[in-house]
Amino acid sequence: MYKILEKKNLGPKQHLLVIEAEAVSKKAKAGQFFILRIDKYGERIPLTIADFDTKKGTITSIFQEVGKTTEKLAGLKEGDFVLDFAGPLGVPVHVEKYGTVVCVGGGIGTAPVYPQARALKEAGNKVISIIGSRSSNLLFWRDKMKAVSDELHIVTDDGTEGVHGFVTDVLSNLLKENVHIDKVIAIGPLPMMKAVCKVTKPCNIPTTVSLNAIMVDGTGMCGCCRVTVGGKVKFACVDGPDFDGLAVDFDELSLRQRRFLKEERESLLLYRDMLNKEATCGECVKDK
Ligand SMILES: Cc1cc2nc3c(=O)[nH]c(=O)nc-3n(C[C@H](O)[C@H](O)[C@H](O)COP(=O)(O)OP(=O)(O)OC[C@H]3O[C@@H](n4cnc5c(N)ncnc54)[C@H](O)[C@@H]3O)c2cc1C
Ligand code: FES
Repeated sequence: MYKILEKKNLGPKQHLLVIEAEAVSKKAKAGQFFILRIDKYGERIPLTIADFDTKKGTITSIFQEVGKTTEKLAGLKEGDFVLDFAGPLGVPVHVEKYGTVVCVGGGIGTAPVYPQARALKEAGNKVISIIGSRSSNLLFWRDKMKAVSDELHIVTDDGTEGVHGFVTDVLSNLLKENVHIDKVIAIGPLPMMKAVCKVTKPCNIPTTVSLNAIMVDGTGMCGCCRVTVGGKVKFACVDGPDFDGLAVDFDELSLRQRRFLKEERESLLLYRDMLNKEATCGECVKDK
């Protein structure tokens, strides 16, 4: 059992969790993730290691409520436990001195970008960070990102904070201003990562993206997280989650991401229905 030491709301449906997981924290590196299961009835969901503290033996994660399991996780409080916590999983990000690296975080993607930006800064790179969201109330970790960046650009779709527009607008402007960029790291929703690659491809700037394929075992056995990169089949859990964005087949991945939409919706509605029944008749359905 893994104890939740801290739980904070960061914005609408966005939460920060600090979980006691000593063994995982000791081996964690930027770019890796873990898979948790809330209870014995639960599905396994992957979440990125957004931060870790080897001394305290903790892992920090930021997640967004999108379906049944993340909604259930959001309902847990400090002092509660999750049943399984497997990790660290995935290949850590490759860090070296590239020169100038632009780190782009879209929405919840700012969380996984943070440890990568920190590692790249520590390796002596000039780090230019661009973080964006739909609106100001969905932005988080501005100070943490500022602390590991030489330049921080904030962007919102609705103009409520920073530049009015998309992260790709800021990236395009940097290129128009002839800022020399040696590498780009982009993490966020699939359409955002695809759009970033569309900007960097004509300039041939190496671009790494983090692929959020649906996962089950996280060990390369089930084949669920299959992605096509450079015409070759890869498994996001063991070959990634970071890949060369210029070679990723984003359209195929986005189709695969949607293959369980009906079941996911049904599962969420059933869960909410069970919670309502519990509230009205006292029937104990919490664990189901
Ligand atoms: C390596 C990796 C790291 C991740 N890190 C984070 C993180 O740090 N924070 C975070 O909030 N989420 C992260 N995700 C996504 C997270 O795993 C999903 O949001 C979660 O599994 C959804 O479970 P659910 O039961 O709540 O929703 P479901 O009912 O399973 O899905 C609801 C909807 O959410 C979307 N969704 C489902 N699975 C994924 C997925 N794997 N990636 C993106 N969208 C999905 C789909 O649109 C789906 O219809 C990560 C995914 C991967 C593969
Ligand atoms: S999650 Fe099963 S192969 Fe990657």
